[in-house]
Amino acid sequence: MKNVLVVYYTQSGQLLEIAKNVVQDLENSNDISVDYHQVKPVNDYNFPWGKKDFFDAFPESFLQIPCDLKKTDSEVLLKKYDLVILAYQIWYLTPSIPINSFLKSDEAKILLKDTPVITVIGCRNMWIQAQEKVKVLLNNVQAKLVGNIVLIDRHINHVSVITIEKWMFSGKKESYLGVFPKPGVSQKDIEEATKFGKPILKSLLQNNYQNLQNNLLKIDAVKINPFLVLVDKRANVLFGKWANLIIKKGKPEEKKRLKWIGYFNKYLKFAIWFIAPIVFIVFLLTYLPFLGKIKKDQKYYASVNQKQ
Ligand SMILES: Cc1cc2nc3c(=O)[nH]c(=O)nc-3n(C[C@H](O)[C@H](O)[C@H](O)COP(=O)(O)O)c2cc1C
Repeated sequence: MKNVLVVYYTQSGQLLEIAKNVVQDLENSNDISVDYHQVKPVNDYNFPWGKKDFFDAFPESFLQIPCDLKKTDSEVLLKKYDLVILAYQIWYLTPSIPINSFLKSDEAKILLKDTPVITVIGCRNMWIQAQEKVKVLLNNVQAKLVGNIVLIDRHINHVSVITIEKWMFSGKKESYLGVFPKPGVSQKDIEEATKFGKPILKSLLQNNYQNLQNNLLKIDAVKINPFLVLVDKRANVLFGKWANLIIKKGKPEEKKRLKWIGYFNKYLKFAIWFIAPIVFIVFLLTYLPFLGKIKKDQKYYASVNQKQ
């Protein structure tokens, strides 16, 4: 009998739906038992988000400052798992605060040490650098990253920016004005996530994960968009400057800090609507000379390897 644990956090339920589909074949197997552990912050983040809270979560999120979590069930902590599925979302180019807090907890050290981990990401579209941060956090608890599956909103960047904001502030995953596409990961992609069960099942039963990521890549578990790789990298540098500045202005919800959060919000809009298109033009102009590096980066970010 093999034991599998799905660790997840979700506000809308999207990520749990994805994770459940990924492990469907495992749950249907008589040789596998699947448990779920929902990460629960002591003070959970409201969903739908208030505008102020949404932007005020930025510094702690980006700087990976953990929040307090409720205790994990002792039944889960006492069991030895053969495989952990870590289903997480991205907040500000970083693993969400609840997931970051879990990965930094003593409980994660117990659950993940020497254990194969498959990350399952459900986000808008910018996850590359967040996954690099997760690789470090997994390494810190001596877990072994063996697979990565990424589901994103496939609409163009600016459309998904508009639709996700409406979703996050209304709590309703529906078409804005009846004109825009539905926000988030499409229902089709969510339902088709069951296809990832087969290669995972094979690796789990054989206790051999060597080819798992390659097998997952063959069925489109990860698609790397080189333009978004560039934007993500640049934005991380700028977000770092903003986060370090704002964190010095006070604690969440403090008046002085909220003033700076307001500036950051305006900057973010400017960056998305004016800087990103310029980066896109630069990307196109430098595409050919940088093709070698772009291909190398694509291969690396699709893999579960970690830069030394
Ligand atoms: C505060 C906040 C920041 C976010 N930042 C990003 C981001 O940087 N990149 C991205 O692709 N998605 C981002 N998202 C979208 C989430 O990754 C995720 O898709 C969405 O919140 C739905 O997840 P759920 O399963 O928790 O409902 C952000 C969401 C929130 C709430």
